[in-house]
Amino acid sequence: MTKVTVVGAGNVGATCANVLAFNKIADEVVMLDVKEGVAEGKAMDMLQTTQTLGFETKVVGVTNDYSKTAQSDVVVITSGIPRKPGMTREELIGTNANIVKSVAESLLKYSPNAIIVVISNPMDTMTYLTLKATGLPKNRVIGMGGALDSSRFKYYLSQALNVNPVQVDGTVIGGHGDTTMIPLKRLATYNGVAVSTILDADTLDKVVANTMVGGATLTGLLGTSAWYAPGAAGAYVVESIVRDYKRIIPSCVYLEGEYGQKDICIGVPAVLGRNGVEKIVDYQLNVEEKALFEKSAEAVRKTNDVLKEIKAL
Ligand code: LAC
Repeated sequence: MTKVTVVGAGNVGATCANVLAFNKIADEVVMLDVKEGVAEGKAMDMLQTTQTLGFETKVVGVTNDYSKTAQSDVVVITSGIPRKPGMTREELIGTNANIVKSVAESLLKYSPNAIIVVISNPMDTMTYLTLKATGLPKNRVIGMGGALDSSRFKYYLSQALNVNPVQVDGTVIGGHGDTTMIPLKRLATYNGVAVSTILDADTLDKVVANTMVGGATLTGLLGTSAWYAPGAAGAYVVESIVRDYKRIIPSCVYLEGEYGQKDICIGVPAVLGRNGVEKIVDYQLNVEEKALFEKSAEAVRKTNDVLKEIKAL
C-alpha cells in the first residue's frame, strides 16, 4: 500500500494529486488544504472521474486534519502563495517560510518516516529550510524544480528542432530561479545526437533564455503561476521514489562538497528511488558551466540568508 499526501490543494497541488491518482502512482492520495472544503471538493471531483477514466486510486480531501495523512510514504508540500506577474519566486519567502516550516512539522508528527518533496517557492530556500528545521537526513528532503525546468527545456528544444519532445533529452541544474537555473545546452540530445551539432548557437541560446523565464512567461499569461507542468513534474519525482525507478532527475538536494558546494540545497542530477536521494551524479561540468553553477549557488545562498533575518531558522 503506497500512500502519498499532497499539502496545498491549489492548482499545483491538485494537479499533482490528480496525476498521482490517475496514473495509479499511489494506492491512496490525500490532499490537505487550509481552506475549508477545497481539498474535499477537489477529491470528490477527481473521484467522479474514476469511472470515466478507469482508475481505482483512493483520493481523500481534508481541511487541516493531519491525522488523515498518517503513515504516508511521501509527502509533497505545495503550500504558500504563488507569484503574481512581475514577481520573482524569491519575493515569496516572507510569507511562505513559516507556512512551509509548520506544514513539514505537522506532517512528520503523523508520518515520521516520510520522504518530503518540496515545491513551494522560493523552492531551493524552502527545501533548505525544511531540511534544517526538521533535522531529517539529507536523503529524505528533495526540492522539485529541476524536473520542471528540464521539462520546459525539452519543450523549447523540441520546438526549435521541430520534433516530438519525447525524443529530446535535456537537463537543467542550479537554482529554480529566472536567473539562477542552468540549462546544460552542451548535454542536450535529440535521439542521442548532441543538439549543439544540429541547432546554431543563437537558436540554442534562445532556447536557453526561453527556458529560464519559462515560468515567468506563463505567469504573465495566466496572472498566476503555472500548474500543469509543475504538478506533473512533482508526480514524476514521486513516481521515481515510490516505484523505485532510480531515475536521474535534476533535483534540489543538500550538498556536502559535491559540485564544489556545501551547506546548500540546489539542483543537481540525483538518482531518486525508494530511499529518496540515493546518489548525486557528477556530470563533470566544464569551466563555463562551473562558473554559472557557482554564481547560481551564490544567489541561492543570499536567499537562504533571509531565513535568518526573518527568524525562520
Ligand atoms: C513555476 C513555478 C511553480 O516555475 O515555480 O512555474
